[in-house]
Amino acid sequence: MKTQVTIIGGGPSGTFLSLLLNNAGIDVVVLERQTKDYVLSRIRAGVLEWNSVEMLRKAGIGERMDDEGSIHEGTYLSSANKDFRVDFKNSVNKQVMVYGQTEVTKDLYKAIEEQNIKILHKIKNISIEGLNTKTPKVSFKNSSDINEEIECDYVIGCDGFHGISRKHIPSNILKEYERVYPFGWLGVLSETPPVSHELIYANHERGFALASMRNEMLSRYYIQVPNNSNIDDWTDEIFWDELKKRLPESAAETIIIGPSIEKSIAPLRSYVVEPMRWGNLFLVGDAAHIVPPTGAKGLNLALSDVKYLSEALFSFYKEKKSDLLDNYSEKALSRVWRVVRFSWWMTTLLHNFPNQNEFERKIQLSELDHLSKSELAQQSFSENYVGLPV
Ligand code: FAD
Ligand code: PHB
Repeated sequence: MKTQVTIIGGGPSGTFLSLLLNNAGIDVVVLERQTKDYVLSRIRAGVLEWNSVEMLRKAGIGERMDDEGSIHEGTYLSSANKDFRVDFKNSVNKQVMVYGQTEVTKDLYKAIEEQNIKILHKIKNISIEGLNTKTPKVSFKNSSDINEEIECDYVIGCDGFHGISRKHIPSNILKEYERVYPFGWLGVLSETPPVSHELIYANHERGFALASMRNEMLSRYYIQVPNNSNIDDWTDEIFWDELKKRLPESAAETIIIGPSIEKSIAPLRSYVVEPMRWGNLFLVGDAAHIVPPTGAKGLNLALSDVKYLSEALFSFYKEKKSDLLDNYSEKALSRVWRVVRFSWWMTTLLHNFPNQNEFERKIQLSELDHLSKSELAQQSFSENYVGLPV
C-alpha cells in the first residue's frame, strides 16, 4: 500500500489530524490497535479550551458540541471549605466548553466514516523503517493476521503515552523530562445531576477533589488517592463519603449521589520528550507529552499540536515548503512547556503531598487566598485555563 501520510493511533490526535489532512486533499491511512468500540468507550477529558472549540468547528465537526456542550464562564476553587469563583469572562473575556472527549471522539469517527478515510483497527506488531529516507515503511499485522506494509512520505506518531512511535527515535537523541506524582485520581461517573453548575476544584487536607460533569444528568467526580490504591477498596459508599468530606460544605450538603456507572484510577505524571520530530517521524499529543489532568489540558494540547503539524503538512504539500515542518518540534514544544508548567502548578497548589509539612500547607493556603483576592492572579489563572494562544 502507498499513501502520503501514515498516522499511528486513532485517538483524538490521530483522527483529528487525518480529518484535516483529508479535507486538504492529502492522502492518509490511520492504524489503530484497538477496536472502534473500545476507543469510543474510553472516559477521559471533559473541558475544551476555546481554541479547541474553534478548531473543531472549523473542521466541520462542531455541530453536536454546540448543541449538547455547555459553555462555562468561570470555575470554583475551594480550600478548607471556603470557596471562591474565578470569572474567566470578566478576567480575560473568554470561556471554555464542557463536552467530553468521548463525544469529541464519536464526532471524529462519524466524520471519518462519512469521508471514507482509511482507518484500520486491531492492527498488531507495528514496525517502522527508513525514517531517514524519502520513503519510510510501516509494517504491521492486520485484523486478519496478514502482514501488510505501507510506504509513505511521513509517519505521524499519535499513539499516546504507551505507543511505539517515540521508541523509534535513537536514545542518544531523545531526551525525556518527567515528574511522577505520589498520587492518582479516582474518577467516578454517575447518572445524577451535577452538584454545581460550574466545576469545583477543591484543595483539602484529606486530599484534592474535583466536581465536574458531562450533562444535566451525568456527573463526573474525582478524588486524589494514594498511588498504591486498589480500586476494589473504593466501594461507592466509601467514595461518596470521602468526596463529601473534601468538597465545600454547601456542595457536600446538597450533592445527589447514585450508583457509579464507571470507576477508574489514573496515575498522575508530567512528561515531555524532545525533540518531537526525528527524520520523517513526527510526534503528536500524548505520544510526546503527558500532563496531570488538574488543568484539563491533555486533550487540548494534543489538538494544538495537530494544528501546528497540519499547517506544516499543508505548506509542504501545497507550496512545496518544508520550513514549517522543520520548525514543528520547536514551535510545539514552546507551547507544550507553558502548559506543562500550568498543569504542574495547579497540581502542586491543590493536592496534598504525602510528606507535605505545615509550612508547605500554609503556602498553598496563602496562594489560594491570593488567587481569591487578586484580579491580576485571576487573570493569569484564566489566561492559562481558557487556553494560551495557538
Ligand atoms: P490517546 O488518546 O492515548 O490515543 C492514542 C491512540 O493510539 C489510542 O487509541 C491507542 O489505542 C492507540 N495506540 C497505542 N499504541 C498503538 C500502537 N502500537 N499501534 C497502533 N495504535 C496504538 N485531558 C484533558 O484535557 N482533560 C482531562 O480532564 C483529562 N482527563 C483524563 C483522564 C484520564 C483517565 C486519562 C487517561 C487522560 C485524561 N486526559 C485529560 C488526557 C487526554 O485524555 C489525552 O491527553 C488525550 O487522549 C490525548 O490524545 P491522543 O490522541 O494524543 O492519545
Ligand atoms: C473531567 O470532567 O473529566 C475533568 C474536568 C476538569 C479537569 C479534569 C477532568 O481538570
